[in-house]
Amino acid sequence: MRWIEMTDELYDYVTAHASPRHDPVSERLAATTRERFERQAGMNIGADQGRFLATLVAVSGARLVVEVGTFTGMSALWMARALPDGGRLICFDITDRYLETARAAWREAGVDDRIEVRIGPAAEGLAELDRPVDLAFIDADKTGYATYLDLLLPRLSEHGVIVVDNVLWSGAVVDDSIQDDDTVALRTFNHDVAARDDVQAVMLPIGDGVTLIRRR
Ligand SMILES: C[S@@+](CC[C@H](N)C(=O)[O-])C[C@H]1O[C@@H](n2cnc3c(N)ncnc32)[C@H](O)[C@@H]1O
Repeated sequence: MRWIEMTDELYDYVTAHASPRHDPVSERLAATTRERFERQAGMNIGADQGRFLATLVAVSGARLVVEVGTFTGMSALWMARALPDGGRLICFDITDRYLETARAAWREAGVDDRIEVRIGPAAEGLAELDRPVDLAFIDADKTGYATYLDLLLPRLSEHGVIVVDNVLWSGAVVDDSIQDDDTVALRTFNHDVAARDDVQAVMLPIGDGVTLIRRR
């Protein structure tokens, strides 16, 4: 049974009825990203998903969070603010092109000092992680998702969780006429995750679709 069709009005309602009701720092970052990187601005996670990620970090008590794909730092902003004192966020991105924009927002929010950015292919960076990861957010190149999952699963702490973004890919995953590399990669990733018996996974229709994965 399907209960809702997500309209723009409902989306605004959802955001307005979560904490915080207003968030000037992320709103300014979204506006700056649109101004500076118009074409790519849609890569920022949305306000609903930011609130969701912040809540996950808070309820899980995560102390070490890893992000794969940082762009102008929107998801990192939401997660870093939810960390406890002494918590760390390690961000991987292949380019530092967007970093100045991200750092300005993180500084404005007072969380710049808890975020470490590692520039380079995320697969290489993840392979070098030597501390248990409490929460990981995957939001980079879609063809790399399976590799990132394989690298992250053995590095999760006992109650660690992996959050995977864009798993519905604007609905393309259920449209077999769409066969580009990213869509096929996401379709295959979703299929493979669901077929594994060593993980527990749940797919949520938040943003562009989010899957939560934990090791059994
Ligand atoms: C969708 S954006 C991330 C958006 C970000 N999470 C946010 O909410 O603002 C994807 C990012 O992944 C990065 N990326 C692409 N391929 C990568 C790779 N192989 N390793 C690390 N980062 C990569 C891109 O440079 C881009 O900044």
